[in-house]
Amino acid sequence: MTGVEQFRYDGKHALVVGGATGMGAAAAQIVRDLGATVTVMDYAPVNYETDQAIEMDLRDQDSIDRAVDELPSPVDAVFAAAGIADGPDLMRAVFIGHRHLIERLMAKGLLPRGSAICFISSVGGMGWENDLDRIQDFLATADYEAADQWVKSHDGDGSIHYGFAKQVIGAYVALQGFEFLKKGVRVNAICPGPTDTPLARANADLWLSFGEDYRQATGIQVHPSRWATRWCFSTARRPAVSTGSHSSSTADTQWRHSPTHSRPARRSWI
Ligand SMILES: NC(=O)c1ccc[n+]([C@@H]2O[C@H](COP(=O)([O-])OP(=O)(O)OC[C@H]3O[C@@H](n4cnc5c(N)ncnc54)[C@H](O)[C@@H]3O)[C@@H](O)[C@H]2O)c1
Repeated sequence: MTGVEQFRYDGKHALVVGGATGMGAAAAQIVRDLGATVTVMDYAPVNYETDQAIEMDLRDQDSIDRAVDELPSPVDAVFAAAGIADGPDLMRAVFIGHRHLIERLMAKGLLPRGSAICFISSVGGMGWENDLDRIQDFLATADYEAADQWVKSHDGDGSIHYGFAKQVIGAYVALQGFEFLKKGVRVNAICPGPTDTPLARANADLWLSFGEDYRQATGIQVHPSRWATRWCFSTARRPAVSTGSHSSSTADTQWRHSPTHSRPARRSWI
């Protein structure tokens, strides 16, 4: 294959976690147009055409296990999209649930050699290297329950917030890249900046005001499908050497080149 067919998903099974709306929904529809059979897992209803929708709540380990048991076949591409902005469920919805789901897929032999995982981190997850000791302490938790307990034990000390959840994704992807590749599985993340989704609109004062001056100056408005295409490229079979990487573009650039150069407080920015 030398042409555009290298980036197609014919004969592949894509699993989009958190695909009811936003960037997950956009990716689900793009990979289906590219030939994939698509399963969407979400706790919200899926209101567009897909091959299979499985109700699943990342805040509940049993719900994840049941959803994995319902999968009709092994998965070639996992899009880990689910996310919320804050609250007591933050770490389970953003990271702990996704990690458990991936481990469950691997344990059941449902992620064959040649498959790929791609998370959505965020510009808010940049700089994870600066907090590596604490993040590694968290990542050393053996399972869902232990990770949840670690979070509860830090409740109230101000360290658990959206930026931490996204930094954990950055570190996890970088640290697991080699381990997963030994099993033939690639893992990457994209790091979007402000993107026009229901989640961003619900937090519009902060999320959609950040970098607005950059977007006005360049005429760029970021629709979820823009990031979804980047995401679909990450899990396509062609860029098979890419693993443990984070792709940012407008996210990073918006911060660096914003005319006001304003950077919202670390704990809450996207
Ligand atoms: N929109 C932005 O500006 C932006 C920027 C950077 C990163 N992100 C990240 O992108 C990802 C996708 O968010 P989005 O902006 O497309 O918003 P979105 O709200 O449209 O998508 C999030 C999806 O996750 C699902 N979800 C949430 N909690 C869940 C749970 N416990 N179990 C199962 N599904 C659950 C929601 O139902 C929804 O379908 C999130 O991780 C978000 O943090 C968004």
